[in-house]
Order: sequence, then C-alpha cells, then structure tokens
Amino acid sequence: MTVMSADLTGIDLRAEIERLRKERNAVILAHYYQRPELQDIADFVGDSLELSRKAADTDADVIAFCGVKFMADTAKILSPNKIVVLPDLDAGCSLEDSCPPEKFKAFREAHPDHIALTYINCSTEVKALSDVIVTSSSAETILQQIPRDQKIIFGPDRHLGGYLSRKFDREMLLWPGVCIVHEAFSETELLKLRAQHPAAPIAAHPECPPHIVDHADYVGSTSGILQFAKTMPGDTLIVATEPHIIHQMELALPGKTFIGAPGADGNCNCNICPYMALNTMEKLYLSLRDLTPRVEIEESLRLAAKKSLDRMLGMAAGTIGLGDLGAR
Ligand code: 13P
Ligand code: SF4
Repeated sequence: MTVMSADLTGIDLRAEIERLRKERNAVILAHYYQRPELQDIADFVGDSLELSRKAADTDADVIAFCGVKFMADTAKILSPNKIVVLPDLDAGCSLEDSCPPEKFKAFREAHPDHIALTYINCSTEVKALSDVIVTSSSAETILQQIPRDQKIIFGPDRHLGGYLSRKFDREMLLWPGVCIVHEAFSETELLKLRAQHPAAPIAAHPECPPHIVDHADYVGSTSGILQFAKTMPGDTLIVATEPHIIHQMELALPGKTFIGAPGADGNCNCNICPYMALNTMEKLYLSLRDLTPRVEIEESLRLAAKKSLDRMLGMAAGTIGLGDLGAR
C-alpha cells in the first residue's frame, strides 16, 4: 500500500518533520541507501546491524524507519511496544521476494541435519523458520562460531553465501536469491573504469556476484565500506554498492572522489535500489503526521522470529554462543 499523494504545497517539510519528531517523541532511523535528504534528517544512519541495535535500544515512542520493509519489521520484532512507521509500505526487497516462507520451510524439512543461517533481508516468517540471522557485517563473526562439522543452509542471498563459503572454505547449501541492485554491476564496465583510475581501489558489498567481488580490494557491509573509505590510501574510490552511500563518504571526506561502479550501460542509475527510493521527505512527513503506514506483526510470529534475531545480536556481540537450538 503506497501512501496516497497529498497536496503538500507550501509546507516546509524539514521544519514540519522536526516539529513532529519532538511532538511524537520519534526517532528517525535511515539506511545508507536512502536519499541524501532522508539521511540528513535522520537521528541515526547505519547498516542493517547498527539499525537493528538502535531499534532495540531506543527510548522513543515512535520509530520512523527510512529503509525497507524487512528492516522496519526487524525494528518491530525487537521493539514491539513502539509504533513503527515505514514511509512507504511497498519498500520491499528482491531477496525477501525470492524466498517464500512455504518453500523455505519445505527446503528446511528436506535437510533436517542442517541449521539455517539466514540473511536479515528476508520476511518475518522466514526469520521464524531460521536458527540464526546474520547481516553482512555480522556474518563472518557468526559463521566462525558455528562448529565446522555443522551443516548449514544459507539463504536467501546466494552471493553473500557463496562469498562466505569461499572465504572460510565451508560448504553451505545456498538458497538461489539475489539482490537485483548488486546483480546489475557490469564486470566489463568495472574493468574499463579501473583502467581509467588505475590507482583507485574498489570496495564491494558481498551481495555482488563473484565476477565483481573478485576485483575488489575491500569486501564488506555498507558501514565496512564507509570505514574503508575513511582509511584508504589515495584520493579516489570505486564503490560497488548502492550509490546513495556515497553521500556519507562525501560528507566525511570532502576532498576525495567516489565513483559508483557502473551497470551494463556504463552508467550507475540501474544500481539505485528501486525499493529504497520509494521513501521520500513527503512520505516521511505524512507517516509522522498520521502515524501510518504502521508495521504490525502477530505476537506468536514475532516471538518465533525474535529468537533467531536475538541469537544474531548476542553472537555478534560475543555475549552468547550458538547454544542449543532446541526444537523448531
Ligand atoms: P548492510 O547495510 O547491512 O550492508 O546491508 C545492505 C543491504 O542490503 C540493505 O538492503
Ligand atoms: Fe534488497 Fe538489494 Fe534493495 Fe538491499 S539493495 S533492499 S538487498 S533489493
């Protein structure tokens, strides 16, 4: 359900969002792939793990989530007593769409000796069917805590799963999902770009296919890529992830040059996430004004999904181990 268009002519959206944020005791959380104006007005901008932690810890009464649905769902799972609004409820994710819960359940049932290590980019139902959730910044730490003889299903991103599998020399059964954004980078165009900037390192998100990741000098989550930009030698970086993250790089490192890795047309517009782009200042304003669209999750489903998310938060922080997974 997309927010109906409203006549907002003459409204100072920034000022109104500021006013409503105070009036509602709201916190605005934004992912690095959001439009710059949403990143600028947010209380906190981060990667999926950092945003989950913020959502779990906030004292606010309302969480306005500038991101996609699985992120807002995660906020609601971790903070059930808060009102969680997502400016546009149609902000989905191709990875979530690739993994229907009933098919995932059947896949799990066909492999009863495997545990499910599942990327956070999935539905609440799939989280409830999983043992441990991971984000791109926590996956390596968590995988290393799982005994080597434990068989693993990894879904829904086959590229992140394949990257982990190669890096740690661990076989995993991979669900065949992909991110349409990271899938769109072109190796040919990337190599042409690197020939033009031979000294520039390439930083890539592990959702990229191997033919992109294999050329990268650094592979990591959005916050990892941002950190790499802050410490890299030289003054130019080629960025193989959704290009809105470049906004934070330009804010932090105004003297440096950041070039988005190209798609097949030699341009990077095809690499803008169409789901993330659905959120706008107008829709954020309306969501704070009307406290809708809200994310709601049925309680038994929420509790089932929370188990795998809590295991991620604990294992990523080093406060718990894999432990006994119990019966599903
Ligand atoms: P991270 O921000 O956790 O790296 O995830 C990227 C992503 O896919 C968001 O959709
Ligand atoms: Fe999903 Fe890819 Fe968009 Fe992230 S960038 S929300 S993984 S489609």
